[in-house]
Amino acid sequence: MTERTLAIIKPDAVARHLAGAIIQRVEADGFAIRAMRRVELSQAQAEGFYAVHRERPFFASLTRFMASGPAIVMVLEAPDAIRKWRSAMGATDPARADAGTIRKQFAESIERNATHGSDAPDTAAFEIGYFFAGCELVP
Ligand code: CMP
Repeated sequence: MTERTLAIIKPDAVARHLAGAIIQRVEADGFAIRAMRRVELSQAQAEGFYAVHRERPFFASLTRFMASGPAIVMVLEAPDAIRKWRSAMGATDPARADAGTIRKQFAESIERNATHGSDAPDTAAFEIGYFFAGCELVP
């Protein structure tokens, strides 16, 4: 079933000029880019996006990092897009990521891990709606 997921090229990867390589990987893996935008998140916007993690010890550091510079947000579409994009990214911690994954290749640390992907259909719906209006996603 065709599905959509929210992907982010995080500030660490944008700062190191890796956006092109990551977008190339997105296309090579067969995702359609349905929407894409460069964003500079405020601290409050980063906190809103990651609100589900607000009790975690890494929340303050994570949100400061996400507000530290430009990022690129995308809506990716493919059959089984959520699972497929998470599999392309690899484990959250690049030290645990499989060879050939985006995080193995590009991530600096568990926090500065190059990309984000929604983890389930309900979070994908929230995350896509956080950045894109429905009228931007009409087929
Ligand atoms: P992401 O897939 O965007 O989801 C939550 C983010 O929190 C994660 O990628 C990492 O950037 C960050 N994160 C998760 N676990 C840790 C951790 N143990 N320490 C620091 N940052 C983390």
